[in-house]
Amino acid sequence: MYTHLQLRDSARPPVTLATLRDMRSRGEKIAALTCYDASFAVLVDEAGTDVVLVGDSLGMVIQGHDTTVPVTVDDVVYHCRAVARGLGRPFLMADLPFMSYPSKEHALANSVRLMQEGGAKMVKLESGAGQVEIVEFLAAHDIAVCAHLGLKPQSVHKTGGFRVQGRDAAAGERMRRSAKDLERAGADMVLLECIPSELGQAITAELDVPVIGIGAGPGTDGQILVLYDILDITTGRKPRFVRNFMGGAGTSLEALKRYVEAVKKGEYPAPEHGF
Ligand code: KIV
Repeated sequence: MYTHLQLRDSARPPVTLATLRDMRSRGEKIAALTCYDASFAVLVDEAGTDVVLVGDSLGMVIQGHDTTVPVTVDDVVYHCRAVARGLGRPFLMADLPFMSYPSKEHALANSVRLMQEGGAKMVKLESGAGQVEIVEFLAAHDIAVCAHLGLKPQSVHKTGGFRVQGRDAAAGERMRRSAKDLERAGADMVLLECIPSELGQAITAELDVPVIGIGAGPGTDGQILVLYDILDITTGRKPRFVRNFMGGAGTSLEALKRYVEAVKKGEYPAPEHGF
């Protein structure tokens, strides 16, 4: 009864949490990307991406909002379902959007929706000391959880903008402590957004679970970027950590393969992409 997943494509068995843990212990970099629809999901899979996130960044790159705040659970479920149809090998993670986890009961009910209706295998929530109990509750219900630390776009109206986090020693220390507490509470993965490279490396070294970074330097176990940023679809000023992989690539698939290769070889991120 457990063989059907492997048989789907035995040459490319699906990535699981165990695969990601093994990659971390072998020192093999994890290549992750966001994705929002089935057509791109097929390409992202074919390019060799290990982890796919249906991020609430969909509010900005798909829906045209200025922030991720307006995104709803229904929105994430809709896009996650489409992405799940296009994916074979990558591990599928989905965002719990703004205010979908104000209590552990809400977090559980909405995680169940992302998994049962959307096909997600892991849920991600923007975390800190206040989310330790929620992560513990989800973990106690056997839900795979990624704790997102650093720049938390859902808090942008409270924190005052999309800014690098953890720059001063006290803030860095608080983040290190939160990461450890969230891991202890049962987080299976940590995502670090927009923090100094040195802090990204230190947090990764202190944890046992895989750590994925975006603008967190080369010292994390893997990297994630927003799909539309690397394919040069996003217009306007891009964050410093973004690299356009379409340059010189003839097709989107070629660009995606270049991204995966650059992450695996440790060529991305380069020092100029860090803080
Ligand atoms: O929503 C998203 O796309 C994310 C990434 C920026 C990591 O959380």
